[in-house]
Amino acid sequence: MTPPEYEYLRKLLRDHSGLDLSADKQYLIESRVLPLLRKAGLADIGELVKNIKAGSASLTTQVVEAMTTNETFFFRDKVPFDHFRDTIMPEILQARGSRKSIRIWCAAGSTGQEPYSLAICLKEMSAALAGWRVEIVATDLSQEVLEKSKAGIYSQFEVQRGLPIQMLVKYFKQNGELWQINPEIRAMVQHRQLNLLHDFSQLGMFDVIFCRNVLIYFDQETKIGILNRLARLTAPDGFLVLGAAETVVGLTDAFKPYPERRGLYQPSPARASPVNMPAFEAAPRLAAMARG
Ligand SMILES: C[S@@+](CC[C@H](N)C(=O)[O-])C[C@H]1O[C@@H](n2cnc3c(N)ncnc32)[C@H](O)[C@@H]1O
Repeated sequence: MTPPEYEYLRKLLRDHSGLDLSADKQYLIESRVLPLLRKAGLADIGELVKNIKAGSASLTTQVVEAMTTNETFFFRDKVPFDHFRDTIMPEILQARGSRKSIRIWCAAGSTGQEPYSLAICLKEMSAALAGWRVEIVATDLSQEVLEKSKAGIYSQFEVQRGLPIQMLVKYFKQNGELWQINPEIRAMVQHRQLNLLHDFSQLGMFDVIFCRNVLIYFDQETKIGILNRLARLTAPDGFLVLGAAETVVGLTDAFKPYPERRGLYQPSPARASPVNMPAFEAAPRLAAMARG
């Protein structure tokens, strides 16, 4: 790959997905797009760049998707899910007791392990959530990972990563080498393709936003912009959960760290005002928890 070809692809990735590659990551592009070149019958990266410059939207999407990291697993890092069960949900149950509804957004849900881990947590709290409207929206840039998430089908290796065996038996059905998550859990998660670089105010307000292990790929300015826009969609007493290597500190004061809960944040009183959305009542009912 020539230096101008690398610079072209580097800018393309920054513009389309926010991926911020340093000047020395040629090898990463080369290794990730190799299967794509073979599949498309292209001789080399030079030819790929020529086709993209000529307007191939499909190749652009394929390069962007090939370069995104989709690594995820059930109950990844454990602590955020402990925070969800032990800190976030008790506060929400109390604060939303009369309205009985909760909206959660997994802002880079990848192949579904994160939104389904949250759905399982909520299912485990069915008694407390009897009669509640529960909505989990899983979004991702990549249509390919969303399709896998929608199907909810995982390999033995994938279910062995992070999922306690009792939950596997309780919430999945085995089909040969594969495991499919129960329709009831699947129905709790709504999927949408969404690029965090673009306007997402149409999603409405959320009580909880999980935005984990995606901001790490972006440059500082992009992180700041996304965090500020997330703050506008977080209820004033809502929560933001970031990944283990991510923080708001030094980037924005739209969120403040929740005391003694690593990775957990709440909107600051001084944050930008929330978008004017008819979010809660207009939100579609995705899954009503069983009564009683
Ligand atoms: C490493 S995975 C994280 C998955 C999950 N949140 C977790 O922590 O396990 C990052 C995900 O972010 C998605 N992604 C990358 N750039 C994005 C963008 N600009 N907008 C939305 N999603 C993006 C990728 O497609 C990928 O599925």
